Amino acid sequence: MGFGRYSDSLQNRRVVVTGGASGIGLATSLRLAAEGSIVAVFDNNEEQLKKTLEEHSEIKYGILVDVSNSDEVKDAFKEVDEVMGGVDILISNAGISIRNKFIDITPEQWKKVMGINLDGIFYTAQEAAKRMLIQGSGVILMTASTNGLTGHPYYADYNASKAGVNLLAKTMALELAPTIRVNTVCPGYVLTAMQIAEYSPEMLEQVNENIPLKRHATPEEIAGVYAFLASDEGVYITGQNIPVDGGELA
Ligand code: NAI
Repeated sequence: MGFGRYSDSLQNRRVVVTGGASGIGLATSLRLAAEGSIVAVFDNNEEQLKKTLEEHSEIKYGILVDVSNSDEVKDAFKEVDEVMGGVDILISNAGISIRNKFIDITPEQWKKVMGINLDGIFYTAQEAAKRMLIQGSGVILMTASTNGLTGHPYYADYNASKAGVNLLAKTMALELAPTIRVNTVCPGYVLTAMQIAEYSPEMLEQVNENIPLKRHATPEEIAGVYAFLASDEGVYITGQNIPVDGGELA
């Protein structure tokens, strides 16, 4: 991975990345660790979390937590307090998608998607914000999606959850300024387990054809935007939903 440093402002920052055991969250954890930050990963996939910690010693802490459970999130942040002494940057990124027709979505599917993608972001963001308000500074970044900015068939629950995340961030940015900056990153198509699970090779090819830059993003390309927004290079940006989509929404 070739990349330069944004600035020394990420040095020794205490970072929590949810869903950090794979995909965009893992790439972001590795990028921030490379920038000098101290990284704790939250994830509910025990096996994947263990593998990630074994393979990447630069990620300092891994905490097994289901972000859709508010008690587990509270406990996880207490553990963060104990091991890192607090949190300066939260990347609330854990999310799932289930491809399904609107007409076939069951209440169980709806609640599952909302529980992780929207409730989980609320729980983690509130716990982080409480600490950041006391210490007088902080950055909260969330993974939404271009699907939270425009309609997209077969993902009605997912799209609604991501639109919720985008407006949650704008509202938080207004209430928490000037102490805490809050933004969302809205990726288009990123080649991760999530995409590969839901799109056949033929569908992926078709998707690429419709993207102006003619390809999916890599997780590292999304991680770079997080590093920029978390650093002092992004110090005047708050309340924004930032598409990183190869021109899809242009
Ligand atoms: P991924 O499936 O590779 O990573 C998601 C991670 O979140 C996994 O490690 C998983 O174990 C963890 N996770 C899932 N449920 C959890 C829970 N309840 N508690 C704690 N951790 C949990 O997927 P990817 O693509 O890296 O997705 C990350 C975020 O990016 C998600 O919010 C997704 O909606 C968003 N996104 C992804 C896009 C893509 O094309 N891959 C496009 C736009 C947004």
